[in-house]
Amino acid sequence: MDALNLLFENNREWAEKIAQEQPGFFEQLSKQQNPEYLWIGCSDSRVPANEIVNLPPGEVFVHRNIANVVVHTDLNCLSVIQYAVDVLKVKHIIVCGHYGCGGVTAAMEPDSHGLIDNWLRHIRDIYRFHISELDAIEDPAKRKDRLCELNVIEQVANVCNTTMVSNAWKAGQELTVHGWIYRLEDGLLQDLDVTSIASGKL
Ligand code: CO
Repeated sequence: MDALNLLFENNREWAEKIAQEQPGFFEQLSKQQNPEYLWIGCSDSRVPANEIVNLPPGEVFVHRNIANVVVHTDLNCLSVIQYAVDVLKVKHIIVCGHYGCGGVTAAMEPDSHGLIDNWLRHIRDIYRFHISELDAIEDPAKRKDRLCELNVIEQVANVCNTTMVSNAWKAGQELTVHGWIYRLEDGLLQDLDVTSIASGKL
């Protein structure tokens, strides 16, 4: 069986299993989605949103890009946030980074990586904002881990500062923004406890 046939085979088995366990699941879900969470994460294949939090289809609205960056002018990400906040009325936006992020690693290297350097520039800016803290960390692995955390914290701030989120808060909409980080080595999530920062104080 070639690799792509395997995917179709897997899909049929997966759909059959769910249909057996929960008759009417797909029919019901096809009528509407009502997720409580917007997940903004890294494109890394090892950090799949639904699997990590063990939630089925329909529960998580997802945006992923390299190094989970929220750029003030990125219409793709902003449109996802708008739909999630204004239409789906999600209650939580989770920015989830991960240790060992290739995008963060590349941003710390002096060499050029082509077009993606323009995207990674946003991470380099974060390094610049926190240069004294980061340069004081002698262990390069620990310095990289800290930049992964600071990247999540900065992206939480960026989410909070979008017009959609600040308007939702002004209107009294129930919405919380969280910063989490995932460790590839043990599959565990950690809350960076920046949720309070997201209460409109930035
Ligand atoms: Co990554």
